[in-house]
Amino acid sequence: MPAYRKLGSIPRKRHIAHRHEPGYRGEGIYYEEVVTTGGFGRAYSICYHLRPPTRVRKIEPAGEVALDVVAEATLRHHHFRTRGLKPSGDPISGRVPLLVNDDVIMARCRPAQPQTELYRNADADEVIFVHQSQGSLHTLFGVLPFKPFDYIVIPRCTTYRIEFAPGTQPDLLVFESRGSVVIPNRYLNPDGQIRLGAPYSERDFHGPEGIETVDREGDTPVLIKDGRRLTRYTLGQHPFDVVGWDGMVYPFTFNADDFEPITGTVHQPPPIHQTFDAPGFVICTFAPRMLDTHPEAIKVPWAHSNVQADEVLYYVRGRFGSRRGVEEASITLHPRGIPHGPHPGTIVASRTMTRTDELAGMMDTVRPLSLTRQALDLDDAEYPYSWME
Ligand SMILES: [Fe+2]
Repeated sequence: MPAYRKLGSIPRKRHIAHRHEPGYRGEGIYYEEVVTTGGFGRAYSICYHLRPPTRVRKIEPAGEVALDVVAEATLRHHHFRTRGLKPSGDPISGRVPLLVNDDVIMARCRPAQPQTELYRNADADEVIFVHQSQGSLHTLFGVLPFKPFDYIVIPRCTTYRIEFAPGTQPDLLVFESRGSVVIPNRYLNPDGQIRLGAPYSERDFHGPEGIETVDREGDTPVLIKDGRRLTRYTLGQHPFDVVGWDGMVYPFTFNADDFEPITGTVHQPPPIHQTFDAPGFVICTFAPRMLDTHPEAIKVPWAHSNVQADEVLYYVRGRFGSRRGVEEASITLHPRGIPHGPHPGTIVASRTMTRTDELAGMMDTVRPLSLTRQALDLDDAEYPYSWME
């Protein structure tokens, strides 16, 4: 979780009257909402509303999120070219799920329309990697600006609207995590601070910048997703009627270019790239960095049999030293049980190089991933044979 943060007006102690005259129905207070994780056992935040946050006028079914998982006849490597994905839907409905297991759904999203309805993911944390575009995430915690190559981490139950700068085509990679997305434990000292030597520090994490109190009585629809089910709640007021909050549960950004790469005289293994941790998977950042300095170093990764993980790479920017044939927004999946490694010619080509400008994101999962129909449509069936040259 990110560091403790406080914005706007909060009372001196928890759960004492936060005076506001005359207040809703003349009750003279702001209304507390405690947002907890892990039951009451983990990080939490406390928000103060103009009106009770529990006022609901209508609850309606709103359908299901389609997830067309395919059965694969063979175990093999995959290369999905997603750069040409046609813009469709809005930042929520336009998500195209590609890889799925019980812990995570990875989707691409190139929205064609702005988000007009508030949205809340009730049982998954979301990580939105912004490949292109910039804008702001509007939530009850305030306004969170974002820019290209930001990871936007949105804790479950954060009602939000994402707004992109006009004139840009947003291009997003979206992770939905059934477990909480956190900073890896090994990056934290026993006092909860990010250790010196970790690939980032508290200064690289950015929370909401300002409270945006919306004082509006009246029907406000919110689309709520839990699992594949969608429910439309019509609230009695706008839910962003918050005057202040504090705590450790809030959306934040971390920019991939702020990742401080760890390098060595010889190749360092992928865990040094780890950025976030979640039950069942990790998210890593391959940032531009110096290549290995040993005079005889092999500067691309070793061939690798990943015995208990499925490895997914998303290619963001620059030339990726160990791969040929991949392009911006390519996704490769190297599943458990079969070896993969640098493409022919890349070992020799890297000998004279001193640094790499590649930027890529990686997701490693513990449980096997399944493909969706949309992923299969983008798949290069020749990719498994691309090492034969
Ligand atoms: Fe690997």
